[in-house]
Amino acid sequence: MSESISTVAYIAASALFILSLGGLSNQESSQKGNLFGILGMLVAFVATALRNDVSGYGVLAAAIVPGAMIGAILAARVAMTEMPELVAMLHSFVGMAAVLVGIGNYLSPQSLTGVEATIHEIEIFIGVFIGAITFTGSIVAFGKLRGLLSSKPLMLPARHFLNLAMLGACAWLGFQFMNGTGLQPLLVMTAIAALLGIHLVMGIGGADMPVVISMLNSYSGWAAAAAGFMLSNDLLIITGALVGSSGAILSYIMCKAMNRSFISVILGGFGATGSSATKSSELVGEAKSITVESTVELLENAKSVIIVPGYGMAVAQAQHPIAEITKELRDQGIQVRFGIHPVAGRLPGHMNVLLAEANVPYDIVLEMDEINEDFPETDVVLVIGANDTVNPSAMEDPSSPIAGMPVLEVWKAKTVIVMKRSMASGYAGVENPLFYKDNAQMLFGDARKNADAIVGQLSAAIAR
Ligand code: TAP
Repeated sequence: MSESISTVAYIAASALFILSLGGLSNQESSQKGNLFGILGMLVAFVATALRNDVSGYGVLAAAIVPGAMIGAILAARVAMTEMPELVAMLHSFVGMAAVLVGIGNYLSPQSLTGVEATIHEIEIFIGVFIGAITFTGSIVAFGKLRGLLSSKPLMLPARHFLNLAMLGACAWLGFQFMNGTGLQPLLVMTAIAALLGIHLVMGIGGADMPVVISMLNSYSGWAAAAAGFMLSNDLLIITGALVGSSGAILSYIMCKAMNRSFISVILGGFGATGSSATKSSELVGEAKSITVESTVELLENAKSVIIVPGYGMAVAQAQHPIAEITKELRDQGIQVRFGIHPVAGRLPGHMNVLLAEANVPYDIVLEMDEINEDFPETDVVLVIGANDTVNPSAMEDPSSPIAGMPVLEVWKAKTVIVMKRSMASGYAGVENPLFYKDNAQMLFGDARKNADAIVGQLSAAIAR
């Protein structure tokens, strides 16, 4: 394929990737976005394979065919809840590729001199450094998500110093490498960066893994961009930059929605499982429980209902009966909408995916910012397995560990019904004063069982 055709193909692929990202930002257009991404990758792949400087198609096929088959089988089998594990594994491949491309590039003779040669060496060193951190960091993240490694953060006594020392050693080796001492400093740096990747992610609690995965996603993008510079491949640079920056933006959005600083997540410690509940303030009043019958009565007499799902809905897999409740109530002319917190559940978009799976119409699923002002005019709010994301202490108690985190202001509605199994705290381990508010009632039990029971009674009432 001539140089100019390959350039045109690369520009087309870049445009498709940008369209893909645009499409993925919205539920309605996400399928189209996915399609653009697949098409872009296909164009990129064919254009690269047909480039004049590519030969040895036998070797290429021997690597690609089994790789594509393994990828297809794994992706088809993966359950929604295992998606972060798969993504972590895929990031580790990108990291490993960047390391191999960098070392391979250094070993293959280049006819560069002067500034060009220096820039090329910097590209190699940085690419291998980011690649090695991404490779081992992603493997540790995979191990933690899979339960192969303890999800507790590893807190070595001088861990920050250790990280700094490893970083310093890599910088020193960089100078040695640039001074032309050969392959040795590059390989030693690769080993140290690999250790740094392990140590960085080992220091982060299992529950913070989603932020780490999106951060590693960003690293893998930058590693790919660095490989693009090494190989003088514009498309790889563009794609890497897109992945790198979108991963960084997603990490930022997640941290902001959890009111945590990015640095505090990276430096680890928070998110250890089994943390004891923190008393955020003196809790006043008494939690009142409600029965399924009374819940149904309240729902049927309401004009407007907002459903707020959280991690418990995912655990209980209650999205299907929830979708039925929604349909039954809407059929009776009651306005039903969903309020989704940006970090409800344990993955970005966790609730949206579950509700889409249960065929809840997209137009009644609203983001926190779109619905927060409507709670005072709402008759009944049904909170299903959400806890931290509806905790008023985030706004009312400056001493609370989650103070400042934006939350869904469900307590402003006329009545709030909270479906959960006990008075236990959520992910952040903070007590929730919502449960003790005068207008709040607890519907205790597994969310799926209770949602099924509500559906049963709603249907029975309609049949009468
Ligand atoms: P959480 O605060 O984690 O609370 C979930 C609640 O669900 C628990 O209190 C639990 O109470 C209840 N539950 C569990 N299993 C249940 C079942 N089978 N039936 C009924 N209830 C059940 O949930 P949230 O409001 O969605 O908040 C998410 C939290 O995760 C936030 O703190 C957020 O910062 C954090 N986080 C989110 C993400 C992303 S990207 N989404 C990433 C990392 C961390 P019982 O035990 O009493 O039933």
